[in-house]
Amino acid sequence: MSSVEGNIGSRVVTTRTLVEMKQRGEKISMLTAYDYSFASILDKAGIDVILVGDSASNVMAGHVTTLPITLDQMIYHAASVQRAVKRSLVVCDLPFGSYQGNSREALNSAIRIMKETGCSAVKIEGGQEIIESVTRILSAGIPVMGHLGLTPQSINKFGTYAVRAQEKLEAEKLVEDAIALEEAGCFGIVLEKIPAALGIKVARNLKIPVIGIGAGGGVDGQVLVLHDMLGINKNFSPRFLRRYHNLFDEITGAVSSYIADVKACDFPNQSEQY
Ligand code: KIV
Repeated sequence: MSSVEGNIGSRVVTTRTLVEMKQRGEKISMLTAYDYSFASILDKAGIDVILVGDSASNVMAGHVTTLPITLDQMIYHAASVQRAVKRSLVVCDLPFGSYQGNSREALNSAIRIMKETGCSAVKIEGGQEIIESVTRILSAGIPVMGHLGLTPQSINKFGTYAVRAQEKLEAEKLVEDAIALEEAGCFGIVLEKIPAALGIKVARNLKIPVIGIGAGGGVDGQVLVLHDMLGINKNFSPRFLRRYHNLFDEITGAVSSYIADVKACDFPNQSEQY
């Protein structure tokens, strides 16, 4: 048995594992996490991939977009997550402004993430326009995951979070971008908010796994933002989001009970003090 086996007894997940999962038709589960405590729960529950997404900019820091989060902040989140993880594959987003300048900047940012967090791979938004950066990062032995479709770092260019690639030309470009990312050596691709039929087409065209968020059930795996699927955020309800809990209301209830107990001098009681 490997020393890196997790508590559920399964072996550690690698980029190779994900490709093998696709080959045998086993769906890949992926969720975001940004801190030690949640990452520890996800890893013990058996999630395949933990994404330290730049959605931390929204759900952790309260920004409206993913643009403000810095490389240093992503490294802080990814290092916290990685410290908790025994089995899952941890992938960290390259944040806006850390790779668009040129491929050397992209490589330096990816190297910082790998050295300072211990995570296993980076994710980068874009298609053929970032292939040089993807190739340079890969040449340093750093696994890269692509991200196509709705790429939130480009929200100011799109002007909307609406479904992408509904038009023929954009759909064709997306397929070409996905093939280019695979040919460059990416180990997987996230497809965000595109028609389900296009998700199936991309997944069928590629040997590497395609993980969808709002890309339908025909892709090789699914990813959601943890805080959304746990119902910690109440004000975000896209069609693709399935809520597995209503933590906003549950936590509000718990905090209200605590406040009431403190005000009523009910907490702490005799057995809760020294
Ligand atoms: O940052 C993030 O959470 C992501 C997912 C939406 C895939 O990139």
